Amino acid sequence: TLLSAGAAQAADYPDHAVNMIVPFSAGGPTDNVARSLAEAMRPALGQTIVVENKAGAGGTIGTSQVARAKPDGYSALLMHIGFSTAPSLYKNPGYDPKTSFEPIGLVVDVPMTIIARADFPPNNIQELVEYLKANKDKVSLANAGIGAASHLCGTMFTNAIGVDLLTIPYKGTGPAMNDLLGKQVDVLCDQTTNTTQHIKAGTVKAYAVTSKQRVPTLPDLPTMQESGYDGFEVGIWHGMWAPKGTPKPVTDKLTAALQAGLASEDFQKRMAGLGATVLTDQANSAALTKKVEQQVPQWAELFKKAGIEAQ
Ligand code: MLT
Repeated sequence: TLLSAGAAQAADYPDHAVNMIVPFSAGGPTDNVARSLAEAMRPALGQTIVVENKAGAGGTIGTSQVARAKPDGYSALLMHIGFSTAPSLYKNPGYDPKTSFEPIGLVVDVPMTIIARADFPPNNIQELVEYLKANKDKVSLANAGIGAASHLCGTMFTNAIGVDLLTIPYKGTGPAMNDLLGKQVDVLCDQTTNTTQHIKAGTVKAYAVTSKQRVPTLPDLPTMQESGYDGFEVGIWHGMWAPKGTPKPVTDKLTAALQAGLASEDFQKRMAGLGATVLTDQANSAALTKKVEQQVPQWAELFKKAGIEAQ
C-alpha cells in the first residue's frame, strides 16, 4: 500500500545524497554556513549533503524552487531572515513562509558589518555618515538583491541617516565582496560570515557592527547602538526547511542530524571564528515555526512604516 511504501522510504532514508539549496551565490556568507553545516551533518545523516547555489532575486528564486521540489527529503533549503522579509517586498515571492515548507530548525545567528572599499576616505562611522551625506550622488551601495540581508541592513542604514544611495544588486554578497575588493563599488552591509577575514586582513574598511554587543572576533568595531543609532540592531538568523509534505519521520531525521551537526566542535569553532552564534537550543521545527510567525508581521509592519512597497 501507499502508506507502507511511505513508511519503508522513511525507514531507509536517506539512501543517497541530500541536496541543500542555498539561494545565493557560491563563496558568500550563506554558502559559507551551508558548506560547514553540510560537513557537520554528514556523520549523523549517514549521507552527503550536496550544496547547490540557486541565486537570484534576493534569494526568492532558490527558496521557491525548494517550495516546489518533491517532498521526499532529498531537497532542503538553507535560508536566512530574508525568508521572512521577501514576502513583504515581492508581490509574488513564489512561496508562502507559513505554508510552503516543513521547518527543520534554526541554525545560526550572524551579525552584520558596515564596510567599504579599502581606500574609501572616511575612517570611522561618524565620518562615514558625514561623507555619505555630502557625496550621496557619487556613492554606490552593493547588496544581494531586494529581500537579501544586505538589502535589509543597507535600507535600515540609509533610512537611519536620511540619504538615498545608488544601489547595485548582485546575486549574493560573494560577488558583491569581489567588486568591493576590486574597488568597483563603495559600501556594503554584510554578514561577518563573509566579512571577518577581509576586515582582519585590512582589505576592506569596517565601521560598525549591527549586533547589540560587540562581536568578540572583531572587538575594535563599535556597535551601531554605541555609535548613536539607538535601536539599530539586526541579527541574520538562518534556518533549514524541507518542502511541504515531506514525511514527519524524514523531517525528524533531518532535525536530529541538524542538532548533531550544530553540536559538533568543528562547526562551533568555525562559526565562532566568523562571529556567528550557533542556535543549538532552537534547532527544531517548533522554534523555527515560532521565529517565522514572529518575523513575518514584524518586518511587514516595519516596511509599511518606512513606506517600502512590494514590487
Ligand atoms: C549571501 O549569501 O550572498 C547573502 O546571505 C546575501 C544577503 O542576504 O545579503
